[in-house]
Amino acid sequence: MDIIIKTNYQEMSLAAASIIADLIRSKPDCVLGLATGSTPLGMYRELIRMHKEEGLDFSQVKTFNLDEYLGIGMDLAKSYDQDRSSARFMQEEFFKHINLQKVNIHLPDGLAKDINKFCAWYEEEIVRAGGIDLQVLGIGANGHWAFNEPGSSLSSRTRVQQLAQQTIDDNYESFYKKAGVSKETMPHFAVTLGIGTILESKHALMLANGEKKTTIVAKALQGPVTSEITASAIQMHKGKVTVVLDLAAAAQLK
Ligand code: PGA
Repeated sequence: MDIIIKTNYQEMSLAAASIIADLIRSKPDCVLGLATGSTPLGMYRELIRMHKEEGLDFSQVKTFNLDEYLGIGMDLAKSYDQDRSSARFMQEEFFKHINLQKVNIHLPDGLAKDINKFCAWYEEEIVRAGGIDLQVLGIGANGHWAFNEPGSSLSSRTRVQQLAQQTIDDNYESFYKKAGVSKETMPHFAVTLGIGTILESKHALMLANGEKKTTIVAKALQGPVTSEITASAIQMHKGKVTVVLDLAAAAQLK
């Protein structure tokens, strides 16, 4: 496991973006696993800059997103604060600014009629694409990877998962409160890639920044591997593993 510690969020974001850009330049048709959340935003902004100013070409890149809330999809009739779907996030923060082909973008479908069938299909699509070359990951304050909440099996596959109360509370404080959406009506379930699925990626690139992540980063990277902190499964990853942190997130590493 390579752990890269940068002085601040901006430096962390640039380091992560340059790892992805190097992969795209060496393998233009690579398969990227992508994550939503505040952590990768700076990385997406730098990749957009590289596309616009340096011609970084996404035209053959395939993407698979990690997760989506159940029962919602992108709804352009709503404001971005009201529509917190992963699909909308990716569209607003990344996809609409680069030259990915629509056909190469894969997002879990929170509105799928037969969700179990969809999950099986999504897994098959990843295999058909040749597997995920590089999987971008954050880490939740409760140690979750994607929406694999505490207690998820470390061999889990893509499936529906109930959100932990802490995740619901975090989402409420970050977005829904200011949009006037009540806690009762905001999403309580999600479709998520499983930990077993994530562990099959060829390269895991995990990012974390800020004091909120200090303790959980140390536990996940250097504590016991446990389903109570699903990101600790990173220690079981058999491929390449790169963790990029800022100083605050790395503060409790031994
Ligand atoms: P964050 O979320 O990037 O918004 O902190 C990370 C996660 O939940 O995986």
